[in-house]
Amino acid sequence: ARVVVLISGTGSNMAALLEAAEDPEYGAAVVAVGSDRENAAGLELAEKAGVPVFAEPFRGRGERAAWNADLAARIASYHPDLVVSAGFMRILGREVIDVAPVVNLHPALLPSFPGAHAVRDALAHGVRVTGSTVHFVDEGVDTGPIIDQVAVRVEPGDDEASLHARIKAVESRLLVETVGRLAREGWRLEGRHVRPGAAGN
Ligand code: GRF
Repeated sequence: ARVVVLISGTGSNMAALLEAAEDPEYGAAVVAVGSDRENAAGLELAEKAGVPVFAEPFRGRGERAAWNADLAARIASYHPDLVVSAGFMRILGREVIDVAPVVNLHPALLPSFPGAHAVRDALAHGVRVTGSTVHFVDEGVDTGPIIDQVAVRVEPGDDEASLHARIKAVESRLLVETVGRLAREGWRLEGRHVRPGAAGN
């Protein structure tokens, strides 16, 4: 399967995907890495690994529709079977979702704590368990069908940084395993349930 990865920052999850994809048995190849920020550190990392990169800088709220259309066209030019949003901090519109199914990685156990501050919100709420979710993207914010999740305990004394670090320690593996499985086995949607097996979506 051809995969385009979208990032906004460090790209540690993208790096984990690149490493896994070196193995031809993995089933997915990263054909491009894109960002909404020209100076995202992850772009440099991808470039060093020999992967084509592109940036489609966000131009402000008033330009959201045009930006989304341009982003969709850039993604489509790589003919992906799957798009992976790994630390991409923008909401994707219909045009992008229509290019290929999009998998997103979210640092909380959805449907709890959607949005851009999931780790902070979980801490503020006082939950004892949070975690990471991989899900398909729909037009809502972190509302699409859940593919898989992993739990992480909140420890006494945790702050946002320490909790996020422990989530990051498990989420790369969750993402890598999920993308590989989808690529190798395919999937089908039954309502909100993601089932293995049949080809495509
Ligand atoms: C991850 O925690 C991911 O779940 C969230 O943003 C972070 C991205 O980190 N959506 P990185 O850019 O992959 O290092």
